[in-house]
Amino acid sequence: MSAETASLSSTLLFVVLFVFVSAAQKNITAGSGQNVTLTCRAANNNILVVKWSRADLEPEYVLLYRDEQFVPDDQHPSFKSRVDLQDRQMKDGDVSLILKNVTINDTGTYECRIFMGETRSWKISSINLHVDPPGQTHTEDGSVGLIIGLSVAAVLLFVAAVLIYRKHKKVKKVNYESTCSSQS
Ligand SMILES: *[C@@H]1O[C@H](CO)[C@@H](O)[C@H](O)[C@H]1NC(C)=O
Ligand SMILES: *[C@@H]1O[C@H](CO)[C@@H](O)[C@H](O)[C@H]1NC(C)=O
Ligand SMILES: *[C@@H]1O[C@H](CO)[C@@H](O)[C@H](O)[C@H]1NC(C)=O
Ligand SMILES: *[C@@H]1O[C@H](CO)[C@@H](O)[C@H](O)[C@H]1NC(C)=O
Repeated sequence: MSAETASLSSTLLFVVLFVFVSAAQKNITAGSGQNVTLTCRAANNNILVVKWSRADLEPEYVLLYRDEQFVPDDQHPSFKSRVDLQDRQMKDGDVSLILKNVTINDTGTYECRIFMGETRSWKISSINLHVDPPGQTHTEDGSVGLIIGLSVAAVLLFVAAVLIYRKHKKVKKVNYESTCSSQS
């Protein structure tokens, strides 16, 4: 791969990643009764505390992990036996929350706070969840953005692949021609 092709494809890759990240919505819409995953990730495994909360329910929380265990004491009653971590081992820093059988009352802004052992600092992110009332056909706002993002990413990847392919073909042809001329 020539330097030119390399820089072109890395530029394209950057654009693709940018589109993909922008499309990863922080707003999620779900229908009543669905199980929802609220994504949150730490940079590594050195996690001391994970707290999922909603400002309007404080001081009660959605889920709390501290001192290597899940603390049920001040969990808001509506989340009892309805929440779990996607991966209780928190492999690769994954602390995404699964909220089962959602109702309209689960609509709100969820905050994910992680206390990291190395930096001894909090990493905070938030996700808006909107739950449609029962019976309403739900429109997946978040997914539409993601689908558009993925489609754009796919087109860009295709363009990159075609450009790289053409470049290679050209190089091959030149090599072939020079071989021929040296033989004659
Ligand atoms: C999420 O929704 C809020 C209002 O509901 C809106 O102000 C915000 O722009 C939305 N964010 C994204 C990334 O769509
Ligand atoms: C939600 O998860 C539970 C168990 O984890 C499962 O039994 C149920 O079918 C799921 N519901 C939906 C709508 O996917
Ligand atoms: C889901 O919640 C509704 C009411 O909120 C309840 O009637 C139903 O039994 C629940 N379903 C499951 C699978 O827990
Ligand atoms: C939502 O909360 C209100 C007030 O707490 C309650 O009356 C209602 O039954 C709840 N709705 C659902 C679907 O859980």
